[in-house]
Amino acid sequence: MDAGFRPGGLALAPRRGWLLTTDRATDTVRVHELAGGKCVATISVGREPASLAVTPDEKLGVVGNRLPAGDASNPRASASVSLIDFAALGKRTDIILPPNGANVQGVAIAPDGRWAYVVHTVGRAPLPTDQIELGWITGNVAIIDASSSVLTGEIALGQQPDWDQERCGEMIFHDATRCYQHWLSCATCHPDGRVDGLNWDLLNDGAGNPKNTKSLLFAHLTPPAMSEGVRADAETAVAAGFRSILFQPASPEEIRAVEAYLQSLGPEPGPVRANARLTIRVKRGQALFERARARCRSCHPRPLFTDCLSHDVGTALDTDRTRFFDTPSLVELWRTSPYLHHGKAVTLRALLTDFNPHDRHGRTSDMSAQELDDLICYLNSR
Ligand code: HEC
Ligand code: HEC
Repeated sequence: MDAGFRPGGLALAPRRGWLLTTDRATDTVRVHELAGGKCVATISVGREPASLAVTPDEKLGVVGNRLPAGDASNPRASASVSLIDFAALGKRTDIILPPNGANVQGVAIAPDGRWAYVVHTVGRAPLPTDQIELGWITGNVAIIDASSSVLTGEIALGQQPDWDQERCGEMIFHDATRCYQHWLSCATCHPDGRVDGLNWDLLNDGAGNPKNTKSLLFAHLTPPAMSEGVRADAETAVAAGFRSILFQPASPEEIRAVEAYLQSLGPEPGPVRANARLTIRVKRGQALFERARARCRSCHPRPLFTDCLSHDVGTALDTDRTRFFDTPSLVELWRTSPYLHHGKAVTLRALLTDFNPHDRHGRTSDMSAQELDDLICYLNSR
């Protein structure tokens, strides 16, 4: 299908058998038949249509036009939202956003089809640029009544968050320009400050022994860092990350900011915790975890579930240069699969059975299938 010179938004009208695309170069929306791919209509809308959505009854298309069209010296200059009437295969109307509205991004339609929500910026162009607190420029959501085609309200999304150390660190953590050749950031391997589910052969412990990416949640409270404990603490690991993974050292201030961001991360409850019907199983699993003969608690004591020591629990591979690994925290296991330093244990069940054949990693061989389920339920609830 030919979506034009500079395709933008994409939406389906499944019952009509249509795919709608926007072309930002020709300011049009194209209607394509899914069967056969023929373009059945090209409808002119506002300037640079970049996003669109279809009402659930498939009567109306709502198109966000990214830029204002017309005389920029007009103090009311603003971008628009176009409504497309599918029965007539033409534009019904253009709704003009508040003065100095621009950068129209997403469009969403409420499930009842009545309201359309459009994300955009709004500015007070006549104000000097330092009048941020007066709303010089802010992000807004426009609320459009789709049945009467009227702009009924605007929700101001307010000021940017404070430019404090934590926020600064969050930006550095996500900023690939910090890397020597600008191709990755800390967040590439640690999305959300957690894991990417991959193994990497970082050179801090020699070559040829890749390690599974670790979550950075509570890293600062559980020294040493890295599964072989080769970094004294998270602070050292953060500085080393810039030097040896991004190949560009960071200043002490920048490192402190990234630490502040990482320290601000808190655990998020997973689906097991949210499911009240599992409470009994979680309780049974906790009793198994805490019973002396399982030994889990001796190396994984509360509250962070690590003794911060290294142990040989029989998980080393032939390629490893040691048999001892730093005990990891067990918080947020529900989102950090695969497990163990080598990332080979895809599920907690595999970890407790296949990867623990001789009970060197706690005693699990005497647990029934039901008991293992309960223990896994508990582990996933932390
Ligand atoms: C190429 C992927 C990759 C990138 C990029 C990366 N990391 Fe990591 N990170 C890892 C892996 C893999 C581990 C676990 C290594 C191990 O266990 O020996 C890790 C571990 C860590 C740890 C130790 C966690 C703990 O509790 O032991 C910290 C802290 C850390 N990374 C911070 C950072 C920071 C800060 C950046 C950016 C400067 C960064 N990482 C960039 C892959 C990466
Ligand atoms: C002797 C100390 C010790 C005992 C006992 C122990 N663990 Fe561990 N645990 C470790 C070490 C060390 C690792 C890291 C091993 C590795 O990475 O290869 C680990 C890793 C884990 C992991 C993987 C975490 C991750 O993010 O990869 C889980 C889950 C776990 N243990 C649960 C348990 C349970 C459940 C028990 C009781 C049946 C238990 N452990 C008993 C020391 C222990």
